Amino acid sequence: MPHGHHPHSAPPVNGATSLFVRRFLARPGAVAAFLPSSPAFSRAIARHLARAADEYVVELGAGTGSVTRALLAAGVPEERLILVEIDPEMAAYLHRAFPRATVIAGSAFDLPDALPASASGRIGDVVCGVPLALFSLDQQRRLTGMMLDLLPAGRYFLMLTYRPAAPIPGPRLGLTGKRLETVLLNLPPGSVWGYARNRPPTA
Ligand SMILES: C[S@@+](CC[C@H](N)C(=O)[O-])C[C@H]1O[C@@H](n2cnc3c(N)ncnc32)[C@H](O)[C@@H]1O
Repeated sequence: MPHGHHPHSAPPVNGATSLFVRRFLARPGAVAAFLPSSPAFSRAIARHLARAADEYVVELGAGTGSVTRALLAAGVPEERLILVEIDPEMAAYLHRAFPRATVIAGSAFDLPDALPASASGRIGDVVCGVPLALFSLDQQRRLTGMMLDLLPAGRYFLMLTYRPAAPIPGPRLGLTGKRLETVLLNLPPGSVWGYARNRPPTA
């Protein structure tokens, strides 16, 4: 018997995933991934947090909160999360799903002005989920510089990518990048990268 369409045997689709896919279809260039990060990939990102107990985590391009959920599960208090998302429907969803987090509905490029004053000097990690690989070198320079300026000197920001190679040209941006982890249980397989400024040469 051919496999027909069985409405009652369809797998349950969770609201976040269907919203993600719908917004991908509406704005493929900005969303840049067909599916949200898997739980396994999201947990891998959260494993590399460097924050001290009281510090905030800024997540750029939080989408429908896959990585956000893993950050919470890793022990980041919801009120220490600052979520930035350019898609208005996704930002509204994040606001409903994480009511105690700070949700900034706008572009990562408009930080740091949009950040709450209470977080100033108290940001321990920045997780970059915006598809920086698709941006111009100048935009990459601006956003990576901004992320590193938010962090204590010498700390890495975290970046997720679905590319097999480095997501941004570290050397051209004056950055040292290292692949921290690759997770095959994601479609497509994902890697977590950390980037910091090149150490100035010691005299
Ligand atoms: C590849 S998705 C990642 C979503 C989520 N972090 C995840 O891992 O499932 C990229 C997200 O970045 C958002 N985005 C794209 N450009 C942005 C920008 N300039 N500022 C803030 N968010 C942006 C998109 O709307 C989308 O939600």
